[in-house]
Amino acid sequence: MARILINDLRKRFDDTEAVRGIHLDIAHNEFVVLVGPSGCGKSTTLRMIAGLEEVTSGEILIGDRVVNDVPPKDRDIAMVFQNYALYPHMTVYENMAFGLRLRRLDRSEIDSRVQQAASILNIGDLLQRRPKQLSGGQRQRVAMGRAIVRNPQAFLFDEPLSNLDAKLRVQMRTEIKKIHQRVKTTVVYVTHDQVEAMTLADRIVVMNAGVIEQVASPQEMYENPATRFVAGFIGSPSMNFLPCRVVTMGTGLGVRLSDEICLPIPDDRTSRYRPHVDREMVFGIRPEHVTEQRAHAGPGQFDFDALVDVLEPMGMDTMVFISIDGRELCARSAPKAVTEVGKKMRLTVDMNNLHLIDPTTDRVV
Ligand SMILES: Nc1ncnc2c1ncn2[C@@H]1O[C@H](COP(=O)(O)OP(=O)(O)O)[C@@H](O)[C@H]1O
Ligand SMILES: [Mg+2]
Repeated sequence: MARILINDLRKRFDDTEAVRGIHLDIAHNEFVVLVGPSGCGKSTTLRMIAGLEEVTSGEILIGDRVVNDVPPKDRDIAMVFQNYALYPHMTVYENMAFGLRLRRLDRSEIDSRVQQAASILNIGDLLQRRPKQLSGGQRQRVAMGRAIVRNPQAFLFDEPLSNLDAKLRVQMRTEIKKIHQRVKTTVVYVTHDQVEAMTLADRIVVMNAGVIEQVASPQEMYENPATRFVAGFIGSPSMNFLPCRVVTMGTGLGVRLSDEICLPIPDDRTSRYRPHVDREMVFGIRPEHVTEQRAHAGPGQFDFDALVDVLEPMGMDTMVFISIDGRELCARSAPKAVTEVGKKMRLTVDMNNLHLIDPTTDRVV
């Protein structure tokens, strides 16, 4: 069993508290992605799991064993770094076999593990090459092969794709997902890229300044962010945030964005938002939920007019930047439906997807 349990984990470097008391329960064979901006404590957390960094306080369990004092080589985990140092003078086969030889496995066992990993990774015909005869993506695969042959209890990845160019990164992302589908193991994967997190993870852990903001499945994280930070970090282009006031509108409630624009809140949210009536709040809406006017508006969808400031064609859609009382909002329109810059455009907002944030706590209410 390779469940990984992290209990009130902390790490202090002199005057920086890099990790400030995190709890995490990673299930056997689960693919968990730690994501957050640079410096938020992702690598430090991973390195403590690997045993490369001593913990300041708290507890780490791998399987049923507390590993705080277990040296890295005895933790039975494999780590794949951004800088995958392959031995340049060894062939691909030897690079993959090396660790197993050190552990004195017999020759036939080594051979069968290397062949199996090579077939999973599609590098069977590269086994006799040396690293300098490989492309970046192929080297990355060999680095993963070296980890796979060890058959560890868990894989730890620290930004393994950040040295690759954009196209290869997307390909390797799919490869890693395929590999996890074939070789079921526990994976803890660190990245600063929210798209990588969304596409790979069973569960995403969003970190910010040494703490965990939220743990959830990708879809749940996207639909129900718990904090303003998560709401803004997950999704591209980012969620729009506009100051607003919650007001009563007839028997229901509305979100007042400006003197002209007051949008009704769907009935199923009124009891949730009623405590915030007459308070200054932050209205959050993703660009894809503000679109060109829809011919048949459904429940919770409302139209409003806005002046177009900037257009950014993306091919499939065009991003339309408008301003409401001097504050920018990004909408997403079908390319054919946009009006010229400087003219008014009629937009539809889907209030079923609104988020309301309390600016005093930065929590989504
Ligand atoms: N060895 C170290 N000595 C001092 N400070 C460190 C050390 N390693 C990391 N830090 C600090 O700890 C914080 C978290 O770093 P890190 O875990 O590398 O972040 P991330 O991987 O999320 O970018 C940063 O402020 C970083 O400067
Ligand atoms: Mg890092």
